Amino acid sequence: MTDAPKLGFTSFARLRGVLVVFCGENLKFGAATQRALAPVGDLVRRAAAADRFNGKSGATLDIVAPTELKLPRLVVVGTGKDGELKRRDVVKLGGIAMGKVPAVAAEATIIAEFASGALKGDQVADLVLGARLRAYRFDRYKTKRKDDNRPKKVEVDFACGNPAAAEKAWANAVGLADGVVLARDLVNEPANVLYPAEFARRASNLTKLGVGVEVLDVAAMKKLGMGALLGVGQGSVHESKVVVMRWNGGKRGTAPVAFIGKGVCFDTGGISIKPASGMEDMKGDMAGAACVAGLMHALAARKAKVNAVGAIGLVENMPDGKAQRPGDIVKTMSGQTIEIINTDAEGRLVLADVLHYVNKRFKPRFMVNLATLTGAIIVALGQQYAGMFANDDKLVERLTKAGEATGERVWRMPLGPEYDKMIDSKFADMKNTGGRWGGAITAAQLLQRFVDKTPWAHLDIAGTGMDSPQTDINKSWASGWGVRLLDRLVEDYYER
Ligand code: BES
Ligand code: MN
Ligand code: ZN
Repeated sequence: MTDAPKLGFTSFARLRGVLVVFCGENLKFGAATQRALAPVGDLVRRAAAADRFNGKSGATLDIVAPTELKLPRLVVVGTGKDGELKRRDVVKLGGIAMGKVPAVAAEATIIAEFASGALKGDQVADLVLGARLRAYRFDRYKTKRKDDNRPKKVEVDFACGNPAAAEKAWANAVGLADGVVLARDLVNEPANVLYPAEFARRASNLTKLGVGVEVLDVAAMKKLGMGALLGVGQGSVHESKVVVMRWNGGKRGTAPVAFIGKGVCFDTGGISIKPASGMEDMKGDMAGAACVAGLMHALAARKAKVNAVGAIGLVENMPDGKAQRPGDIVKTMSGQTIEIINTDAEGRLVLADVLHYVNKRFKPRFMVNLATLTGAIIVALGQQYAGMFANDDKLVERLTKAGEATGERVWRMPLGPEYDKMIDSKFADMKNTGGRWGGAITAAQLLQRFVDKTPWAHLDIAGTGMDSPQTDINKSWASGWGVRLLDRLVEDYYER
């Protein structure tokens, strides 16, 4: 088990350990970087020529043990034309820089300067965010060190024009990094450790940041009439829970924004059991709930000026003598009934009750729900975009913009009466599956039946929340997808 590196801030004058610097196209360096590299003369130029390194965005050049610098290694990271860099590019460069710090290094310094000059405080914070996310490892269950060359503690400094300003900006951003880390940890945890009560306990830690946390148990949910959610959990030895998290950083009395997450701690499929191959991935079927918990952490940590509600439905979907059957009909809290066709279409059942509960109790300005809801959305969009279904164009526009800004991208999918009628049932108000075609859409149609007129968006994150492609800012199975997206949505549009 390794700890995350300790991140610090220093001046351009104090460089130690592995040195990472940035350069623009045609080997253009900033002034402080030029000063730092002055002792090596034309070494960088000759190494770059040998490697055909030109400072293209994301390209890197390694120089081991340069004689004139008393440092173990010099790494140059290309930024391309840095005038064109967006915030998410700076985050990414932070990830690339951190990735170039070798595992055996105990100390490293990253010079927070591009060719155009020293990074401002907020830019340094973006750089550090990328570095922190890149350094994330989930290795708490590895009891044997593979590589004994690794130092026990690693320190990475960011050399800045104004270290105090950078430190202050990072103090404001570290909560976002911690929120992503929290979400990743929750998704990576195995289901024998993270069952509903344990998830609820971890969410309850948010009280330390000033978040109000309520946990509804089965008795409370029975009283509320949450028959759809309870039906999913009834085959498990682990009691279902709903957790409601509230952050009130906005004006007293203004309606909150609301985030709702699917928290299926393990999805066997239930009686409609899944095939064995790959079933272990279904420990991540609570990535929507994990994102909501991570987001609440981020909002509270930076004292966001917003009233926000996070609500998560936590269940385990198991086959059992007590489990629900295909053909069963359940009554939701809204009063509408659902015929169960396939017990593996369980996420929508959980969300139906939590969406209705949040809408009725809080009358939010909007609701965004996140769920690893369907395999069909992975077929449609792969792992690059989350599917977005919504009843409100403004919310769509804002989520799309926040997605482009953070790199957590969303792609709008259709809703409509032709799809809606595919889930009409012979015996109940609706059935929980609509057949093979348009599977992600009919799932969304069911959710829409529980949101009334409230502006709402459903993000199907089955492809983005787990089993994630490796990126410059994530090497872990769990991405923590959505925390940065929704933090940005709130920051850009709702903190007033
Ligand atoms: N949790 C799954 C969806 C999923 C699949 C998430 C792959 C992540 C990766 C969901 O509960 C499910 O089983 N959906 C079914 C619905 C079907 C039975 C209508 C699916 O997508 O096959
Ligand atoms: Mn399922
Ligand atoms: Zn599921």
